Amino acid sequence: MKALIISRDNLLHAEVAAQGSARMPAVQLVASRLGLRDAVERVLAEAPELVILDASEVAPEEAELVERLVKHYPRACCMLLTRGPQQELLIRAMRAGMREVLPLPLVHRAFHEAMDRIEVETGVAHMRDGKALAFISCKGGSGATFLATNFGYALAVLAERKVLLIDLHGQFGDATLYVSDQKPAMTLSDICAQIARMDGAFLDSCLVHVTPNFGVLAAADDPHQAGTMKPEHMDAIMRVARQHYDYIVLDVGRQIDAISLRALDSADAIYPVLQLALPDIRDGRRLLDIFRSLGYPGERIRLIVNRYERGGKLRLADLEQALGAEVMHTVPNDYLSATDSVNQGVPLLQLSRSSPVARSLADLVEVVAARRVPESKGLFDRLFGRSESEL
Ligand SMILES: Nc1ncnc2c1ncn2[C@@H]1O[C@H](COP(=O)(O)OP(=O)(O)OP(=O)(O)O)[C@@H](O)[C@H]1O
Ligand SMILES: [Mg+2]
Repeated sequence: MKALIISRDNLLHAEVAAQGSARMPAVQLVASRLGLRDAVERVLAEAPELVILDASEVAPEEAELVERLVKHYPRACCMLLTRGPQQELLIRAMRAGMREVLPLPLVHRAFHEAMDRIEVETGVAHMRDGKALAFISCKGGSGATFLATNFGYALAVLAERKVLLIDLHGQFGDATLYVSDQKPAMTLSDICAQIARMDGAFLDSCLVHVTPNFGVLAAADDPHQAGTMKPEHMDAIMRVARQHYDYIVLDVGRQIDAISLRALDSADAIYPVLQLALPDIRDGRRLLDIFRSLGYPGERIRLIVNRYERGGKLRLADLEQALGAEVMHTVPNDYLSATDSVNQGVPLLQLSRSSPVARSLADLVEVVAARRVPESKGLFDRLFGRSESEL
């Protein structure tokens, strides 16, 4: 968003420039004027989309210039920054249509919240209504983290959705390592410790960005700090996440604690991941019993059988009967591709596009993102790099 800033204060100019450039999309200060009079006398040839007016040095007799300024840029959004009570100016500014008034010194969170509102109003961004999808392993090593991370990546790349993955493992969370070699600068527990700063920009700044559309919030890595996390923190994070992402994929890990329970409560769908083996079925049954006792409706629970191989002694029907629930999706066993991807920390789709697991993930994306058949050709085309005629 191209912005004009009207201020004599170099420090404020630098502060707004830094906060603005950290946003996605960035606020670029394309021009500056030293005062209101300067701004109305030297009108920009190309109108800015945003005008940021530092009112701290606007004299009372200059207040009427606000209306002239707004008339020059009728389509621009305006933000007024004020240091003290400037009633006359405020009234005129409001009359002229300036809706965002922020006190100085600048509170960064307030600035970003105002920018969020402006972006929604101008259609630059829309408040999303993200869906939370929780992956939970019925038994250790079933593949929940592998599927959650690679599915998140697939949703972002194939369905072009904005996706956030939150690693909720209480201990030894390693979801970032499955898809990235970046070391997370912030973790879930760091965010909880600074929950008052929570907004879309802060959340985004805490992520490991695997692609511009896919970010991962790393698990709490310090058990002492993890102890200070509260379920209410999870509510705040989920609320902001839903506004800014199309999908929030939760890697719940095995143990259910107060934090992960709060996340599960709010999940739109829960994907228990298990393999077709008796120990998995036993643990799966326990997990489903817990979900039933928590009152989660059956249709919210969608079983995924991972590392599935046809022709084994146990059949899918046996598992469905034992668990009293339908299998929603199966992911084939693909040791080489999965191990390569995990060892390199590169998403499977990027590494082995045509592997059976990549195809299976693409199928799951189609079901979840409700892509229709004509679009799905394009989706496969993107995935396997083939032309329509080859399909
Ligand atoms: N479809 C698959 N085919 C082959 N190997 C797989 C498949 N899915 C997962 N794996 C392998 O299984 C291993 C364990 O997976 P993962 O770490 O995702 O399990 P998890 O359920 O998250 O375990 P935990 O309960 O410890 O968090 C991974 O290293 C991966 O290589
Ligand atoms: Mg895991």
